[in-house]
Amino acid sequence: MRRIRRLYYDLFSKIYDRIIALHSADRAGRLRAWLVERSGATGGTKVLDLCTGTGSVAMEASRVVGSHGVVVGLDFSRGMLKKAEGKAHGVENLCWIEASAPFLPFKEGSFHVVLCSHAFYELRDWEKIWALAEVKRVLRSGGRFLMMEHEEPSHPLIRFLYKVRLASMGSWDSARFISRELSLFSRFFKDVMKEKSPTGNSKLIVGIRG
Ligand SMILES: C[S@@+](CC[C@H](N)C(=O)[O-])C[C@H]1O[C@@H](n2cnc3c(N)ncnc32)[C@H](O)[C@@H]1O
Repeated sequence: MRRIRRLYYDLFSKIYDRIIALHSADRAGRLRAWLVERSGATGGTKVLDLCTGTGSVAMEASRVVGSHGVVVGLDFSRGMLKKAEGKAHGVENLCWIEASAPFLPFKEGSFHVVLCSHAFYELRDWEKIWALAEVKRVLRSGGRFLMMEHEEPSHPLIRFLYKVRLASMGSWDSARFISRELSLFSRFFKDVMKEKSPTGNSKLIVGIRG
């Protein structure tokens, strides 16, 4: 099953950036810049971009953390990572790791910040829980986890399509996860809070590693 999901993302990687550019009003990447800004990353910060896809968020973070910082983009799809590598060719503070979100190949406390943009909902239910535990493990004390996801659309048809997508990518329990995500986050992180993106279509959940 996991092989099929990876194959899906490998194929999707070929058109992913074009699809995003088509259906997103955020062509200038303001949302990505906002996510990195909200993380508090500055020069020297060590950042993990979980489920990095074609690496757009990781690239934005690498610009912010500069030559004293480091950004790791992690994804389980080789196709996505190949695209990311191609886009970020020559960027020295950025590296790519092929791994799965519930099994992070890093030592405890390796990062100041972990980001996850528009990908967490696509994990299976058990993966979400394991990934939260792993994110907590690899964050330093006081480090921040930021998960950005689409808000549930208010238009009934678009909301239906959004739910179908979630169900096909994750599981039929995704809706249940969403309804209790803040309390779940609070099991792993302190000072959990939710805010709306400036575009209004996405939300951000932020938690601090105690
Ligand atoms: C919708 S894309 C989002 C990519 C990127 N974060 C962005 O904002 O453009 C979802 C990504 O999650 C990755 N992914 C899904 N399940 C994963 C898992 N279990 N471990 C690592 N990556 C995973 C997929 O390969 C894909 O690149």
